[in-house]
Amino acid sequence: MNTTIQLSLIIAFVLFPTIIRGSQVIYVQPEQIHLSLGVKSNQIVVTWTTFNSTIRSTVCYGIESMDQVAHGSQNEFIDDGTERRKLFIHRVYLNDLNANTTYKYHVGSTQGWSEIFTFHTFPMGHEWSPRFVVYGDLGNVNGRTLSRLQDEIQSGNHDLVLHLGDFAYDLHDDNGRMGDQFMRQIEPIAAYVPYQVLPGNHDNAYNFSHYNNRFTMHSEGDNVTNNHFWSYNIGPVHLIAFSTEFLYYTKYGKQQIRNQFDWLEHDLIEANRPENRAIRPWIVTAGHRAIYTQRYVNTVVKNGNEFGPGFEELFFKYGVDLELWGHEHIYERIWPIYNGTVFNGTNDNAYYNPRAPVHVTTGSAGCILLPPKILQRRPEFSAFASNDYTFTQMHVINGTHIQLQQVSDNQNGQIIDQIYLIKDNHGTYEFK
Ligand SMILES: *[C@@H]1O[C@H](CO)[C@@H](O)[C@H](O)[C@H]1NC(C)=O
Ligand SMILES: *[C@@H]1O[C@H](CO)[C@@H](O)[C@H](O)[C@H]1NC(C)=O
Ligand SMILES: *[C@@H]1O[C@H](CO)[C@@H](O)[C@H](O)[C@H]1NC(C)=O
Ligand SMILES: *[C@@H]1O[C@H](CO)[C@@H](O)[C@H](O)[C@H]1NC(C)=O
Ligand SMILES: *[C@@H]1O[C@H](CO)[C@@H](O)[C@H](O)[C@H]1NC(C)=O
Ligand SMILES: *[C@@H]1O[C@H](CO)[C@@H](O)[C@H](O)[C@H]1NC(C)=O
Ligand SMILES: *[C@@H]1O[C@H](CO)[C@@H](O)[C@H](O)[C@H]1NC(C)=O
Repeated sequence: MNTTIQLSLIIAFVLFPTIIRGSQVIYVQPEQIHLSLGVKSNQIVVTWTTFNSTIRSTVCYGIESMDQVAHGSQNEFIDDGTERRKLFIHRVYLNDLNANTTYKYHVGSTQGWSEIFTFHTFPMGHEWSPRFVVYGDLGNVNGRTLSRLQDEIQSGNHDLVLHLGDFAYDLHDDNGRMGDQFMRQIEPIAAYVPYQVLPGNHDNAYNFSHYNNRFTMHSEGDNVTNNHFWSYNIGPVHLIAFSTEFLYYTKYGKQQIRNQFDWLEHDLIEANRPENRAIRPWIVTAGHRAIYTQRYVNTVVKNGNEFGPGFEELFFKYGVDLELWGHEHIYERIWPIYNGTVFNGTNDNAYYNPRAPVHVTTGSAGCILLPPKILQRRPEFSAFASNDYTFTQMHVINGTHIQLQQVSDNQNGQIIDQIYLIKDNHGTYEFK
């Protein structure tokens, strides 16, 4: 090449740089990162979203440094709204984690990594005191407890969050953008502790498609995900999450009512085997629509309907200790109850060896629907009610003591109600 040609090539290159592709933005940066319990207790699942597919789905993690690598998979999820927006949901399982250990991690691919987060694994065995944060009905608009929850979880004093249905209001709104923004908002919570979920009525759109795609729930020991009903052993607790919505959204199928009921009964029989109940005496259930509320008794959830059975008798029969609910946008504590009758424990303390399950509704985390008034005259079974924006702290101290505290956002984080549920022995109520 002579120097003139060389020179003109250089000029051409400098003046007209080659553009790699069109001007379209590429969305490969991971977002909406959240954790959940894996198939085994030494496993954690990391789930996140990108809006374009990536070459891989990878988590780098470790104790001192992020020297371990796990790969997973991505699912294309197409929202059913008019825009048919596409999301790529990535899932990676972190296996064989050390117990009671803090890990750091980041997620993504060589096309982009998230910032670094941390989580702390559960101690081994059943002799530890898990601290749960429990609430339902948290939305994007008027999500009043959200910042307090973000702050509280990052303090490191909690092991797990249980969200009792109704997310974002609603996950599918604005072609799924409402869901995206909500999942970004819970990331400062859910990227640090397992964010365990169950379905509410607001999550039913397109046969719960957003709810199914965005979360990853496993029962302990079951490698098939099921976001509608699952159970897990956590310290001295056997925690069961289930759907009250199958009884209502029968347009999506009636068989699911029976399938879930049979699974629940089998799960409760297992949890009640003497060798299991001896080490995990507490059976705690979590569902969306409360049975006992200041305004009504939900007879569908209680007794069932023409399509299938309800839950009260089943949970009573198998000695469930505590039933957590959302849906009503208040906090309400119920005296120990079965079939509308209060069965207090002792005369001094209703919650000492109660003769029926204890129900608590904690559906006031904050959402677009304003909380109802607390009635002046409430049913006899209603022990305490507040329409402050609140969430529950559930501290399972040991096999005999659970502490429940209700934290009010209106009152700057003050605890507005507290009980100890105390049981010297657990099991069926029928013979007491
Ligand atoms: C990235 O996603 C957008 C929106 O779904 C899509 O229009 C575009 O074609 C994607 N780009 C690539 C490179 O896949
Ligand atoms: C977890 O580890 C800490 C120290 O890092 C220790 O103090 C604590 O006792 C351990 N908990 C259990 C239940 O083993
Ligand atoms: C799930 O576990 C069963 C055995 O319990 C096994 O046959 C199956 O391959 C596993 N599936 C996956 C996806 O790991
Ligand atoms: C709704 O989804 C469930 C699985 O989550 C499926 O079993 C059922 O058949 C679906 N219903 C309809 C009407 O597609
Ligand atoms: C529950 O109470 C109702 C009356 O309120 C009664 O008719 C029914 O037989 C009771 N059911 C059980 C299982 O005790
Ligand atoms: C249950 O205990 C509470 C608190 O002691 C009491 O107010 C209520 O009247 C009791 N109910 C019954 C039916 O004994
Ligand atoms: C359980 O915890 C309670 C409250 O801290 C305590 O009084 C009780 O002695 C503990 N029981 C056992 C068996 O450690």
